[in-house]
Amino acid sequence: MFLHKNYINGEWIETEEKVEVVNPATLEVLGTVPDASEKEAKSAVDAAHQALAGWAGLSAYERSEYLANWSRLIDEEQEELAKIMTLEQGKPKKDAIGELVYGNAYMKWYAEEAKRVYGEIIPASTKDKRIFVKHEPVGVVAAITPWNFPAAMITRKFAPALAAGCTVVLKPSEETPFTALKLAELAEKVGIPKGVINIVTGDAKTIAGVWQKDARVRKITFTGSTPVGKILMKDAAETMKKISLELGGQAPLIVSQHADLAKAVDGALQAKFRNGGQACVAANRFLVHEDLFDEFVERITARTAELVCGNGLEEGVHVGPLINADAVEKVEKHVNDAVEKGAEVTTGGKRAHVGAGHFFEPTVIKGATDDMLCFQEETFGPVIPVSTFKTLDEAIQRANNTPYGLAAYVFTEKMNEAIYLMDRLQFGIVGINDGSTSAAQAPFGDIKRVVLAERVEKKELWNI
Ligand code: SIN
Repeated sequence: MFLHKNYINGEWIETEEKVEVVNPATLEVLGTVPDASEKEAKSAVDAAHQALAGWAGLSAYERSEYLANWSRLIDEEQEELAKIMTLEQGKPKKDAIGELVYGNAYMKWYAEEAKRVYGEIIPASTKDKRIFVKHEPVGVVAAITPWNFPAAMITRKFAPALAAGCTVVLKPSEETPFTALKLAELAEKVGIPKGVINIVTGDAKTIAGVWQKDARVRKITFTGSTPVGKILMKDAAETMKKISLELGGQAPLIVSQHADLAKAVDGALQAKFRNGGQACVAANRFLVHEDLFDEFVERITARTAELVCGNGLEEGVHVGPLINADAVEKVEKHVNDAVEKGAEVTTGGKRAHVGAGHFFEPTVIKGATDDMLCFQEETFGPVIPVSTFKTLDEAIQRANNTPYGLAAYVFTEKMNEAIYLMDRLQFGIVGINDGSTSAAQAPFGDIKRVVLAERVEKKELWNI
């Protein structure tokens, strides 16, 4: 089931050094993958560079066909891929299937978009001249992907790059490399030409270090933590690479006085418990109008208490393990800090002893305040801290008082209120009566940190 090699220039490569991959639910070692050295990182770029002219030179229809065929195989192998993902990442198998559907939507969308990379003709200032604008592939793209969505973050990077005619070198998280390698096997099966995609596993610093120094790599795309994103951005400047970063979040979820409470509770559960709260778009700060506060807490406590935490391969499990021991420690620290500062745990609140792995009980905290860690940092775990507000402007001000600007959620039945909030919330994505906003066809991104970085430095906003 597990592929133990790297995929470079259409070949499966072994190395002497290995990294162990551990099942976070059982702590069993699932297997090993290469701990690639600078040599493998460089040969991946050699291969991608060599393949670039051929791939970019195909017609858009040919590239589209490759992506469509790859996506068909991903659908066919869904069961196997989901099992691998649950074993290495921990999410319940049903959620792993959900991720594969979501992730494969990128393949399907960009297989179509490949054919629609239109150019432009702009009127010139003189009549004997024409201005043609033609889109060109950026070149070799280096992609670095996280462990929380081991398939979707890969397809989200591969699909647009390949559609545009770029070739890719990709380093998956060392915690979840097997899903990536399985995807590469499927790409090989559909005959994607050698060198067009390359997967290198191992130490991020070593691999990214080589890719950053190599001027043939023209773009870095990264999903992961904000501190690593900052380093990558600085290093990319040396060879003037383009860069796309998708970093942390600290999403507020606002339940207005005019919300449909049933919808708000469903949406809140969706926005929190997808992947056990381990998502950058996960709702982290729940702000509920004072008129609905008690009933919201009562209902969400009851629903959260029903969630079954356990090994994602078992039937009926809703929340799997966290990825590692540090993640459990962070969640525990946030809960303890909230309790010390006066909040009340209405369900959960401690480590769950449902296996050898890294489990934490699905938790609701009543009476969260802005000074608590759970309101200042990404918890990245199954915790719902609920606070109350009196006016919408107060909710907006508190929601915006963070350097993060990725996602926000709003629950209201009033159209004018929804628009008022949408226009004022400083977040790239605002879900209105919707706890699940990510979609292949929608833009996904952050606003704000860059704009507000200076205010954070001056301590006008919370630091992280
Ligand atoms: C992430 O958490 O990194 C991505 C989540 C998503 O695509 O919805």
